[in-house]
Amino acid sequence: CGIVGYLGTHDADDVLLGGLRRLEYRGYDSAGLVTVHNGGFDLRRAVGRVERLKALCDEQPVRGSLGIAHTRWATHGRPSVENAHPHVDAAGKVILVHNGVIENHAAIRDFLKKQGVTFRSETDTEVLAQLVGFFYSQTGDLLESVRRGLLEVRGTFGIAVVSPDAPHTLIAARRGSPLLVGQADGAYFIASDAAAIAGQAVRVTYLNDDEIVRLGPDGMTAGTIDDVPVEKRFEELELAIEDVELDHTGFEHHMLKEIYEQPDALTNTLRGRLREGSDKITLGGLSQIARELPRTERLLLMGCGTAWHAGLIGEYLFEELAGIPCEVEYASELRYRNPIVLKNTLAVAVSQSGETADTLAALREVQTRGARVLGVVNTVGSTIARETDAGVYLHVGPEIGVASTKAFTAQVAVLAMMALDLGRRRHLSPERTIAMAEELMAIPDKIRTALELDDEVKALAEKLVDRDNWLYLGRGVNFPAALEGALKLKEISYIHAEGLPAAEMKHGPIALIDEGMPVVVIAPQDHTYEKVLSNIEEVKSRRGRVIAVVSEGDTEVARIADECLYVPKTEPLLSPLVTSVPLQLLAYHCAVLRGLDVDKPRNLAKSVTVE
Ligand code: G6P
Repeated sequence: CGIVGYLGTHDADDVLLGGLRRLEYRGYDSAGLVTVHNGGFDLRRAVGRVERLKALCDEQPVRGSLGIAHTRWATHGRPSVENAHPHVDAAGKVILVHNGVIENHAAIRDFLKKQGVTFRSETDTEVLAQLVGFFYSQTGDLLESVRRGLLEVRGTFGIAVVSPDAPHTLIAARRGSPLLVGQADGAYFIASDAAAIAGQAVRVTYLNDDEIVRLGPDGMTAGTIDDVPVEKRFEELELAIEDVELDHTGFEHHMLKEIYEQPDALTNTLRGRLREGSDKITLGGLSQIARELPRTERLLLMGCGTAWHAGLIGEYLFEELAGIPCEVEYASELRYRNPIVLKNTLAVAVSQSGETADTLAALREVQTRGARVLGVVNTVGSTIARETDAGVYLHVGPEIGVASTKAFTAQVAVLAMMALDLGRRRHLSPERTIAMAEELMAIPDKIRTALELDDEVKALAEKLVDRDNWLYLGRGVNFPAALEGALKLKEISYIHAEGLPAAEMKHGPIALIDEGMPVVVIAPQDHTYEKVLSNIEEVKSRRGRVIAVVSEGDTEVARIADECLYVPKTEPLLSPLVTSVPLQLLAYHCAVLRGLDVDKPRNLAKSVTVE
């Protein structure tokens, strides 16, 4: 979900709608805004995209230079106007937008019902609005009422609150759901994501858990929900509007733009960290714990979705290059088990956004069990980045397309550098380190070459797009690449696809293969190549249709596969960085051909800040 708030001198609706449009990738089931003016407020809510809300505001204009807005990814309650934010309390005095989940909403709802409060929606957010309203009816003090309300709730929240009684006051608070305050001359902003206020705010400060701020003409006051004053420091916002808007880029979708950005993005990821002819890996973010690194006896990688796939590739890299046993866990599963954290365990939280609730919870869990936790995160200043003991940023710029592409390849590149660094501190030879580092440095150009497959991939997509079931096969590091290829196709084209270790196919999934079923096989030349060739034969003898991703110069596969996509040869351990590219393009073209909204696929959100 996304939150944006504005207090300034301009019409709030322009700022809010612009902000919501840039936050839409965070959720887009419904959207709403409220503006406040002397003694009153204008509330508009619509099911569906921000465009619908904008149309509504054009028909029924709103006024005021204070307002809050929200774009929703439904958790409690289906997408409907009643369930859309902002929510207003029964007396019409407290209006709020909320990200997160109020876990004890049922008990609070029962309590308030007994006090005679009637509810209009099914959401936990309305419960919070009514609770704050209940305290407001007793105290008449907005900040105090928000504080008291928040002291009663269990769960997570990022909230922004306004009241028609206070037409120059904007309140915001957070626990477990990101929120930042932006500042520019004569204006304050609230946002759940800096993208919302890029090009508007000049400085920002990030709220920590259990902090609450009040913004008004006399400035900002900050404290904890327990009422202890807090000093906040603003820093410059380094995010330009061009980073988050598609206009003038020549690309129709963020996803395609981000696929094409990969050569430059990965150059940024590697910059300053590797050097030609050197076995030194410079990961500045790890320097505080550098002395502990050689003692690492066990690695535990955690993440969700695409980040988990990157972690699976990391497992091969760490075990092969650093010789350290490595486990990769879905963050959501890890935290509800009884994870055994042995001495000298180094945990790594992999997350593009740095805000995924499951990953954050897992990292806290293993931290309390004594593990050191590193972050492999893209968003600078995000919660995971701040809560980890050390880390390595991806530095690929904002990723807006819901289907992750450049963040995935950058995560793999960072994990490869970390594996080399750890390896070098143990037994990895300088020669192998240098050879691997140079291979990594060559990757951006190889991705550039792989991108030249675009037209060929598009033509292929035209032939295959009507098929509803696909398999993706790979072995070794390209098994996770197969999982990721299948996920891309599922996410944006709604075609059912399954990724498998190629050898596992014969233990069950082979039953699915019928005439013409697309089977994408990743078969670069590595130590599993011969075996993959037999797997292709197995598919062909069941009359499946094989689309193979192979190394340039390969002649074997072409003889049996139906289609071959040739990518540059690379060090086998790094091959997913290149083989993934045509698979990203394949998913993209299928989704476009199916007429779907590539950047905002149904039911998904870019960053899931609820558990
Ligand atoms: C969401 C997105 C996925 C992403 C996952 C983890 O489910 O739709 O594309 O891989 O979250 O996100 P993170 O920001 O932690 O990498």
